[in-house]
Formats: sequence, structure tokens, C-alpha cells
Amino acid sequence: MSTEANVVKAGLEGIVATQSEISDVDGIQGRLIYRGYDIHDLAEHATFEEVIYLLWNGDLPNKNQLDELKRRLAADAALPAEVATLLKRIPRSANPMDMLRTAVSALSFYDPDGPEMSRDANTRKAARLVARFPTIVTTFHRLRNGLEPVQPRPDLSVAANFVYTLFGKDPDDIATRTMDVAFVLHADHELNASTFSARVTAATLSDIYSAIVSAIGTLKGPLHGGANEGVIKNLLEIGSVDNIEPWLKDQFARKAKIMGFGHRVYRTEDPRATHLRDMSRLLGDRVGNTLWYQMSRKMEEVMMREKHLNPNVDFYSASTYYTLGIPTDLFTPIFACSRISGWTAHVLEQFANNRLIRPRAEYVGPRGRKWVPISDRD
Ligand code: COA
Repeated sequence: MSTEANVVKAGLEGIVATQSEISDVDGIQGRLIYRGYDIHDLAEHATFEEVIYLLWNGDLPNKNQLDELKRRLAADAALPAEVATLLKRIPRSANPMDMLRTAVSALSFYDPDGPEMSRDANTRKAARLVARFPTIVTTFHRLRNGLEPVQPRPDLSVAANFVYTLFGKDPDDIATRTMDVAFVLHADHELNASTFSARVTAATLSDIYSAIVSAIGTLKGPLHGGANEGVIKNLLEIGSVDNIEPWLKDQFARKAKIMGFGHRVYRTEDPRATHLRDMSRLLGDRVGNTLWYQMSRKMEEVMMREKHLNPNVDFYSASTYYTLGIPTDLFTPIFACSRISGWTAHVLEQFANNRLIRPRAEYVGPRGRKWVPISDRD
């Protein structure tokens, strides 16, 4: 880029790349809204299904609209037979995010709307994606453990079905409510990295499945959704409250990033962490093991004292899921099972008012070099 004056913002920090009506992060006040509703209000009162409707349509559903959405999600939750068969062929050792990326890509072959790009067709595809993400994750988990997959039940919510199809028994109220709140809290977060990926892909007028595959690959990274798995790995390695401080000091000396802390936008507490902290404590009390919660509290205290860094959404979701008995490598796929609602809302918004997303790079390499025949090169 040689003609325009420009300032490179590393990591696009602070760059406003689009307008959106879906969600807003206020990093100074520590506030998050979906379509104008405060996340605290939604976490306390809304179900995940209500949030899905809200993100897609802009308003909360009335009873009929909510019932219709639930019917549609229930009807779409089962996997096409070909994708169910594919899951049996994926190596048991596969990273579940890689498995999810591959399975979602394969789903596109069997979508009854095919390449149709109308708003209605894309909304139907969005519903199939939201309904099938949890089924893919739990089916793969059961298959890799030599267990029969459990079919989702039409009478259960997305959250209850996740617990039911993962563990194969009737979900209890606390596990269901915990997953429902976790899904509400992770559903959307403005122009985070994976949502940006989805929008960049959609903006080429590629299809919604391609956009979501881009997003899954982006969410996997440890600086984004992969952080929640990193958090629990650290807690398991540390093992006790007393070891937290020496372990952290050692990590600081190595200049390591501590998973679950810091955020590009929030300069105060991530409002989602407030709820997940409470859930982690309540669940720990319930099962009579508060170790992971106590360790997390201590880590939070030391990180604030030494680094002035707050926990983010991934920090307390880790101990929450672990206390529910969920395998650690499913933590990031759970994030995806929720964020698919926001990703699809953003793809629909992008299609509705599209312009190709194509920024510039400041070229800092050499110029004016002359061709050298291969026989003359060192
Ligand atoms: N542990 C230790 N130090 C951290 C840190 C962390 N988790 N997060 C940020 N910092 C420090 C950086 O080392 C840097 O310090 P310096 O200026 O002395 O070099 C400073 O804070 C700014 O960090 P930077 O990485 O430039 O911020 P960013 O906006 O590019 O990155 C994250 C944001 C989220 C990627 C970053 O905080 C991080 O890597 N966190 C851990 C991964 C995580 O939890 N991701 C989930 C996000 S929801």
C-alpha cells in the first residue's frame, strides 16, 4: 500500500469494520447487550431458544413464535444418515473441534435447500446448523467411547438435549439450567475473531456452511474459544490452592499467557464471567467439591494483584463444565454449540447488506529486486 497515508493497527485493534444491530460490547463499563437487552437480564430470565430467536429476528419471540422455533429445532436435531456414518469413520483420537469442522462441512451436501441463497433458505439452514451442532458433538463423544449415540428428544430444550445425548440419561434440572445459561452467555459477542471470519467468508457471497466452517476453525485457537480447555489443563496441573501463586510466578517469568485472563475489549470484568463464577461456586457446593472454584478464585486474586487482568468468559466456564462431568476437550465445542446462534445471525445480517470485506496490508518487504536465474543463486 503505497499511495494512502495509513496507520497499521496490529490485530485490527479498535478498528470498526462494520455496522451491526446484533450485539454490543462496552469494554469500559463491562456491559454486553444482545439486540438492546442486557446480558444480565437475559442470563437471569431467557432461555437459549429465546436468545436464538432474538439474535436472528431482532425481537424476543411471543409464545407462538417460540413454539414454532422449538418445533423446528426439534425436527432438525437428528443428523442426516450420511453424516452419522461419517462420524463413525472419524478417528476416535480426533480433536473434537476438527471433527466438528469436518462434520459441518459434510452437512452442506445433504441440506435440502442445496445452493439456494434466499433469506428464507438461509434461515432454514441456520436452524439446521443450530439444531445439529450439539448432536454432532455428543454423537462423536459417545462413538469414541464405544457407546451407542443417543437420539435427541423433541420434548427437550437444546440445553437439556445436550446433557441427555451426552450422558444418555434424563438430565437433571441443575445441569440443564447450567447449560442453558452457559449457552445464553456464549451466544454472541459482536465482532470477535470467529464471527469476523464468518462474515469475511459470507461477504464473498459464499454459502452459510462455508462461513460457519471458517468460524469453527477460528474459534478453535487457544487465544479464542480454545482458552477454556487451557484453563482446566492448568488447574489440573497445579492441583491445589497453595500451588497457584508459585505456578503463576513461574509462568510470569516465562512470559506465558495465562488462559482465561485478559480481553481485547473489556478493561473491567467481563459480565459473562460474573454469572459463570456464581455457577461454578453453586455447582461445586452441590457436588461437595469446591476445589476448582477455590483454585479459580485464588488465581483470579493473584492475576488481579500482579497483572491487573480480569477473568474472561472462558475462565469460570472451565470449572463449571468440569464440575458437571463434561470431558475437557468438549469445552470449546460447547462454546461452538452456543456461538453458532450468533454466527448465523451475523451471516444473515452480512447477506442482507453485503459488501466484500477486503482490507489492505502495509507492504514492508523489499522492492526493486532483479530476476536471478536459478543457476546463479546461492
Ligand atoms: N496472561 C498474561 N499476560 C497477559 C494476558 C494473559 N492472559 N493477556 C494479556 N496479557 C498481557 C500481555 O502480555 C501484554 O503485556 P505487555 O504489554 O507487557 O506485553 C498485555 O497484557 C496486552 O496483551 P495482548 O496479548 O497484546 O492483548 P490482546 O488484546 O492482543 O489479546 C487476548 C487479548 C484475549 C488474546 C489475551 O488477553 C490472551 O492471550 N488471553 C489468554 C487467552 C484467552 O483467555 N483467550 C480467551 C479470550 S475471551
